[in-house]
Amino acid sequence: MSNILVTGGAGFIGSNFLNYMVKKYPENNFYNLDKLTYAGNLENLSLIENETNYTFIKGDIQDNKLVKSIFDKYDITTVINFAAESHVDRSIENPDIFLKTNILGTQVLLEAAKNKWELNSSDKYDTAYKNNVKFIQVSTDEVYGTLGSDGMFTEATPLNPNSPYSVSKASADLLVRAYNETYKLPINITRCSNNYGPHQFPEKLIPLMINNALEGKKLPVYGDGQQIRDWLHVKDHCTAIDKVYNEGISGEVYNIGGNNEKANIDIVKLILKKLGKSSDQIEFVTDRLGHDRRYAIDNSKITSDLKWEPSYVFETGLEETIQWYLNNQNWTKHIVTGDYMNYYKAMYNNR
Ligand code: NAD
Ligand code: TYD
Repeated sequence: MSNILVTGGAGFIGSNFLNYMVKKYPENNFYNLDKLTYAGNLENLSLIENETNYTFIKGDIQDNKLVKSIFDKYDITTVINFAAESHVDRSIENPDIFLKTNILGTQVLLEAAKNKWELNSSDKYDTAYKNNVKFIQVSTDEVYGTLGSDGMFTEATPLNPNSPYSVSKASADLLVRAYNETYKLPINITRCSNNYGPHQFPEKLIPLMINNALEGKKLPVYGDGQQIRDWLHVKDHCTAIDKVYNEGISGEVYNIGGNNEKANIDIVKLILKKLGKSSDQIEFVTDRLGHDRRYAIDNSKITSDLKWEPSYVFETGLEETIQWYLNNQNWTKHIVTGDYMNYYKAMYNNR
């Protein structure tokens, strides 16, 4: 039995992960520590909120005292750290909170894990890792910087982050690595490409374009729209983290990609086509500062070592995602009006 602390579990990827894992592993306990920033939404967890192996805790990963008390009270054996400020455009406007949450917050979690697990000898370390005592840092391919028209990121690609967001994630990765080297903390780092799927906050490319298209607004494409991203369905990302959790080799970094490189403009056109809307809605706007041109992931390590592969075909995944947003327009409406924050009050204030 494991007691798993999932941070940032009310956000896009964390909530998909919890919805998948809580039901799959009834013998394990899941503790979701989330600050409920603008990006955290408890409506994402309505399917599991009453499960006996799931507990929500509202709080900040930077809160030393709270984090330590969670480790002690629930005898935490595993950390999967999703909590982060995650939007590049916001990091360009206001880097400060990115450094605080993404770097300092990660360090607070690492320190609590180190103190709780006391793995100061190699015997203890190996046994602990086999028993799934480990710290998994959910990182991003953006730590590698940008690519030209060919080549792919491997786990050996040097870190070369360009935005305040990716610098904060790369810094956190280095701290995680240091806790492994220095204190023998069992760790894995996963670096995935751009996720898409249900529950994604409508500030990111795909949900923003779906919503604008539905509302008859312009679809703002940065620069020439020829920037390339690799797109990974969030459910494929979740199965990959499950693999790393159960079978990952201690200390290893795993890239996770969808084998799905697409130019932004092609995605925007595809969304309009699937919704039966006109490409006249597209508007080219001023480019993002320091905009990375291309990301591409070489998946061969996780594919060969852990036998994981992405299962989604992009067109099908995109159709399902569009359908999800069509079926859940209230979800988006609650975000736009701020009503989703009231869900927390209704659910938790009188408990
Ligand atoms: P998200 O912005 O949707 O969710 C982040 C969650 O973290 C929210 O629930 C928020 O309330 C919570 N949070 C923020 N600050 C916190 C704090 N100080 N303490 C506790 N909780 C806090 O992000 P996401 O898209 O789900 O991303 C999850 C992780 O995956 C992040 O670490 C991100 O860097 C990484 N990642 C995301 C993508 C992507 O395409 N979305 C790609 C690569 C990596
Ligand atoms: P985004 O979803 O913000 O993810 P990331 O910056 O982490 O890759 O953006 C994906 C791509 O889409 C990126 O190249 C920027 C571009 N983009 C637009 O062209 N218009 C938009 O309104 C947004 C949000 C993004």
